[in-house]
Amino acid sequence: MGEDSSSGQFGSGLAVDRPVLLTGALGQLGLALQALCPADQPLRAFSRSQLDIADHSSVAATFSQVKPLLVIYAAAYTAVDRAESEPEAAHRANVLGPQVLAEQCAAHGARLIHVSTDFVFDGRANRPYGTDAPTAPLGVYGLTKLQGEDAVAACLDDHVILRTGWVYSHRGSNFFQTMLRLHCERELLKVVVDQVGTPTRAESLAWAIWQFAHRPALQGVYHWSDSGVCSWYDFAVAIGQFAVREGLIARAAEVQPINAEEYPTPAARPHYSVLDKKKTWEALGAGARHWQEELALAIASAHADQHSSDVRAPIEAPIEEQHG
Ligand SMILES: NC(=O)c1ccc[n+]([C@@H]2O[C@H](COP(=O)([O-])OP(=O)(O)OC[C@H]3O[C@@H](n4cnc5c(N)ncnc54)[C@H](OP(=O)(O)O)[C@@H]3O)[C@@H](O)[C@H]2O)c1
Repeated sequence: MGEDSSSGQFGSGLAVDRPVLLTGALGQLGLALQALCPADQPLRAFSRSQLDIADHSSVAATFSQVKPLLVIYAAAYTAVDRAESEPEAAHRANVLGPQVLAEQCAAHGARLIHVSTDFVFDGRANRPYGTDAPTAPLGVYGLTKLQGEDAVAACLDDHVILRTGWVYSHRGSNFFQTMLRLHCERELLKVVVDQVGTPTRAESLAWAIWQFAHRPALQGVYHWSDSGVCSWYDFAVAIGQFAVREGLIARAAEVQPINAEEYPTPAARPHYSVLDKKKTWEALGAGARHWQEELALAIASAHADQHSSDVRAPIEAPIEEQHG
């Protein structure tokens, strides 16, 4: 990455007379976007309780009041397995919500940065997915996210669709937090080895989004994740090793690789979901850090939080809630 993703400093200026409107403010990406917001950038951040993106009249009233120049969609239904039994809820947040936001952006002359997922692909490829690769989601979550992309493109020209994958942070519920907890609690962890992708620290994604915010000429579909490739097994091993090295946990559990078929989940997941980021790196003039470098930063942030409170926040996510 060209600049320090933890500094929040940017050289170029986004027009500051109209604010950026952020949805999903309390999600892991929403929090990272707020943490990295340039100091001189007016930002109005709305959590779900403050703004339900699928509620047309609330969204219309908020747009009339805020008059945003740019809207960032960081709100979504992200429970990949639960989506199989709650397709209406997934559709509401992942399809209806983006459609309502895009319609309001069109009506108010605002740009939309929409965040989507590697789960729009079926994972049968054996080389990184380009932005024009055929989509074929395997489950409800991926399908609704793809339909959300289509809804945005149908309503609004001035948009960016940024696909990412395996998002985690030192805050919130995610694979990273779950693994930290399980390394402490268990002697042995069994983690899937035949699903390969790239972890993305929420702060790295937030950095990329602010870069797009500062380049209003960019439109269309882009991909962003951290650099490199790994399996969930590799990621779980690295989390344990890095956390011990940093002194965040006393010892790491033994991690045993298993195949996805030994760990059945309600939603099928792509076996391969590495994204080709070349187009984005050229557009931004900067690439992403390797996932292990970002992991080291996440471990350091978790350590800093632990020391500031002396008590680690409870980690609630069940192991099967690997988000998309
Ligand atoms: N997590 C991943 O691994 C991953 C991978 C690829 C792409 N993505 C995409 O990245 C984006 C950010 O994901 P994330 O990991 O930050 O998700 P997250 O931590 O689950 O946050 C999503 C936020 O959206 C809120 N939300 C849900 N429905 C809403 C609605 N109708 N109106 C307003 N807010 C609503 C949620 O509120 P509640 O908590 O109250 O429900 C939550 O605060 C999403 O577009 C997601 O699809 C994520």
